[in-house]
Amino acid sequence: MENRLIPKSTIEDIKDKADLVGVIGEYVSLKKRGKNYLGLCPFHGEKTPSFTVSPEKKLWHCFGCGEGGNIFDFIMKSEQMEFADAVRFLGDRVGVFVEEAKGGTGGGLKKRLFEILEHACKFYQQNLDEEIGRRFLEQRKINNAVPGEFRLGVTKPGWDNLLKFLVAMGFAPEDIEKAGLVVPREKKNDYFDRFRNRFMFPVMDQHGRVLGFSGRTLSSDEPKYLNSPDNPVFNKGSQLFGYFNAREEIKKLRYAVMVEGNIDLLSCWQAGIKNVVAPLGTAFTEGQARLLSRVAEAAVIAFDSDKAGVVASERAAGVLRSCGLHVRIAQTEGFKDPDEYISSKGKDAFLDIIKRSMPALEFTLKRIIKKYNISSREGRVMAAHEVADALAKEKDLIMQKEYAKAAAQWLSVDEAGLAQEIKSKSGRRTPVRRRFFSREVEKPRSKVEEAEMCLLTLALQGEEALSLIRKKIEGNMLDGGGLRAVLRKAIEGGADILEDLDDGQKRAVRALMMAPSPIDDLHATIDDCIGTLKAFQIKNEMHVLRSRMAEEEKGNNSKALVELQKEYHKLSEILRSSSR
Ligand code: GTP
Ligand code: MN
Repeated sequence: MENRLIPKSTIEDIKDKADLVGVIGEYVSLKKRGKNYLGLCPFHGEKTPSFTVSPEKKLWHCFGCGEGGNIFDFIMKSEQMEFADAVRFLGDRVGVFVEEAKGGTGGGLKKRLFEILEHACKFYQQNLDEEIGRRFLEQRKINNAVPGEFRLGVTKPGWDNLLKFLVAMGFAPEDIEKAGLVVPREKKNDYFDRFRNRFMFPVMDQHGRVLGFSGRTLSSDEPKYLNSPDNPVFNKGSQLFGYFNAREEIKKLRYAVMVEGNIDLLSCWQAGIKNVVAPLGTAFTEGQARLLSRVAEAAVIAFDSDKAGVVASERAAGVLRSCGLHVRIAQTEGFKDPDEYISSKGKDAFLDIIKRSMPALEFTLKRIIKKYNISSREGRVMAAHEVADALAKEKDLIMQKEYAKAAAQWLSVDEAGLAQEIKSKSGRRTPVRRRFFSREVEKPRSKVEEAEMCLLTLALQGEEALSLIRKKIEGNMLDGGGLRAVLRKAIEGGADILEDLDDGQKRAVRALMMAPSPIDDLHATIDDCIGTLKAFQIKNEMHVLRSRMAEEEKGNNSKALVELQKEYHKLSEILRSSSR
């Protein structure tokens, strides 16, 4: 993994200068908890935070999925970068120059793709001055500042304008194809532009790097929207249109508005609602929810008002809720979508429907109830059954109970009956909870292992405990491998304890390092652990003595035997007194 071409001192320098909490804070919303910071893990779906960052130890660790490491590990995972690229990426931020590694692996292609995508974006932007681009902006009432802010653009009439432009800049057609911008012709070694006659929306990551495009047709061509295919830098399932622009505002307001269309998003934006994102026309994914959960605590979904929009809203709500966000659903009743709503009724009216949005569960229940004629007993019963189905799926039991109570009232049915029905329906369901990584199952440990683990935990948590342990450890108490070896390393100090461990050990030791220390009486705890180790050591020595005594007996060497017996007796006295 480590790249020999980057000097270790450069790597250490960057690690020292980079602000771990600041860097990770751009991906995860962190709250201070004691010495550490806590947030929702960006690498697995969770509702309660177990992702921990320790600025003091310069480490992060997720107690839920076990992922963790240093700042480079975090960037490698978040940005899907190779080690050398992660070093360079952070080096840029902290102003440490990292020499270009010749012959390095992997990084080259991604770097070229980013360059190609950036130039393509500029190319499309420049075309916006031409008639066809101006006309679209005018028709859609997109005001002057917006194209620049979102780097909107348009294609030029023809089959290979972008291809020619990029090739003339020196890029290889094969790379341009990998960036998803051109498509090979039947005839070998030739390509044509993927996006033609389209209005172009670049999709940018949180740093503003262009990853791909979403192109809306300017005529009646199908499909209406064409997205870049996934490529080594673009994974549609974990990007949102508008994220780069909306991030700061979402962070500030702590919630995001999610609309269906790119155009809806621009309408919201220019009306001054800037905490808005849109999925890329694909089914909303957990990756997208996690991206949002980095900056938002809640989301208001304002999709199209048609049937498909309602279905998509409830689906997206489920995904967002499973990633720990509070979700409300808003409806642009009487209008097709937020774009139409804002252009007819204005910003304040739209903000008002956001205010009047309902918690996702309430929205679903009310939608169900609306389908039935609840003035008839039959209708009420049927509605109650469907409501019970929906509530039986609810994982949050408090919500389930609360809304059962409310729904019984809305329907005027017996509350106990509804509750009973929900209970029997939840019982039948096998609760399959998807886990990304199972927690490591811990073996039952012996008393000695417990003591080793406890000492290691303390040793890893602070200088005070460490120096006490150093003083109290005697003899060869710590000979051996496994935990003892790690403990030796910790006591010796200096070296990076995690360095030579295998992945499983790394995980376990990191978890120990990051765990909050609940120890009240440090001295007593350490004495207790060391006592256990000492007793173990004495028992071992006594065991050795016993076999030696057996041999001397056989050889009738009574003088040696007496010596051994004396020694044995002494040890058993020590053992007895220390266990008192
Ligand atoms: P206008 O209809 O021009 O107002 O644009 P819109 O952005 O509101 O489009 P629409 O409501 O039809 O669709 C909402 C979103 O779904 C779009 O912004 C696209 O992201 C996506 N989408 C729509 N049609 C297609 C399609 O044919 N293919 C793909 N991949 N995505 C689409
Ligand atoms: Mn629309």
